[in-house]
Amino acid sequence: MAAPNATRPNIYAHIVGWGMAVPERCMTNDDIAAIVETSDEWIRARTGIHTRYIANERETTALLGLRAAREALEVADILPIEVDLIICATSTPEHIFPSTASIIQDMLGASKAGAFDLSAACSGFVYALQTAAQMIRSGAIQTAIVIGAETMSRILDWQDRSTCILFGDGAGAVVLHGRADAGGLMSAVLRSDGSGRDLLDLPSVGSLDVNRPDLINREHQTYKLYMEGGEVFKFGTRVIGESVRQACDIAGISITDLKLIVPHQANERIIHAAARALKLEPDVFMLNLDKYGNTSAASIPIALCEAAQQERLQQGDYMAMVGFGGGLAWGAVVVQWSGVPEPKRFGTQRRQFIYLTAAGRQRIRTFLRRISETFNRIRPQRGRLQRLRRNIDKIDDE
Ligand code: ACO
Repeated sequence: MAAPNATRPNIYAHIVGWGMAVPERCMTNDDIAAIVETSDEWIRARTGIHTRYIANERETTALLGLRAAREALEVADILPIEVDLIICATSTPEHIFPSTASIIQDMLGASKAGAFDLSAACSGFVYALQTAAQMIRSGAIQTAIVIGAETMSRILDWQDRSTCILFGDGAGAVVLHGRADAGGLMSAVLRSDGSGRDLLDLPSVGSLDVNRPDLINREHQTYKLYMEGGEVFKFGTRVIGESVRQACDIAGISITDLKLIVPHQANERIIHAAARALKLEPDVFMLNLDKYGNTSAASIPIALCEAAQQERLQQGDYMAMVGFGGGLAWGAVVVQWSGVPEPKRFGTQRRQFIYLTAAGRQRIRTFLRRISETFNRIRPQRGRLQRLRRNIDKIDDE
């Protein structure tokens, strides 16, 4: 670990932009009741969910994440080339590698950014936020985009009524920016209990678990989500209160100082039980799962984005975000809200131009790499190849 630098001034990680995206298609409880034996009344009463959005074949995790990230950059009025890091929290990546964050980085034209995915199920966004904030505080980076993006509909068993009713697809994003004025992310609590890993499970290519043909189809490379709902319900109710209290203690504030709590949107009854345990009014909790269902890692940034759009937070307000889910993993952060950013410096047009050139640049780079490979194979001419490689590097630097 690096020695603390006594001369470096404090840097604070402020949330300066937010955005969200959901697929076009809205699916009602009645639509689900046409697939499995359930009803609108049961789903509303037991979960609070009325509708959710379900991706079509072209609406991928990266595309939803990209739309949310663009909206967040717009609010922050930051250019893609000013971004140093992109973290995408997801359990439904487009590939194991390349990371979904790398795909988003390329489509954004964030040519100076590092990018990686983070896996912590429904707590992923809180984990990613703290990771990016620590990098900002250390001085390693100044600006990060933190995304939660999911296409949960692709890994659901649409015959299992205890899970397929709960989830939806979508993405949310924030821009974190390092500044000298105090505020932004004040504290974080990140926890895990891997002994509960079988309570919420989405197997993948390396799984040893060959005795679950209901979850793993190796021939078709398909994997399904499994959940023991009752156990997860009890766990969620316990850890929301516990971790929010701990995060408030570390931040040096009382729980009653919180203007808003943005919890993972799993089940309205879990959130109401947590409110009772914390002796808080239910309206301190931001709730929008009625519209979107449980979008896993995307649920907290989507709810945060709507809270900001509804002006439920003013500059200087304390708020908390709290996630829980597969791992088992959970976590909470306390934030002092930084308010709406200063008036525009760059305007939308310059960003639109960067997005357009990002798409063109990706094609040119692929084309140049192919030519380079062909030259390499049929006629090795060192001078020409070196020139081509230099051209590719130049494009990468722009
Ligand atoms: N429609 C109608 N009946 C249903 C349905 C349905 N969709 N689903 C279950 N039932 C039935 C059950 O079969 C059962 O019937 P029985 O009594 O005849 O056996 C009855 O309803 C009660 O079942 P429970 O499982 O006890 O229902 P419960 O009230 O616990 O609700 C639910 C189930 C909604 C899944 C709840 O347990 C829950 O929300 N759990 C938490 C999920 C969660 O928080 N996940 C977050 C993490 S996700 C992540 O990390 C990826």
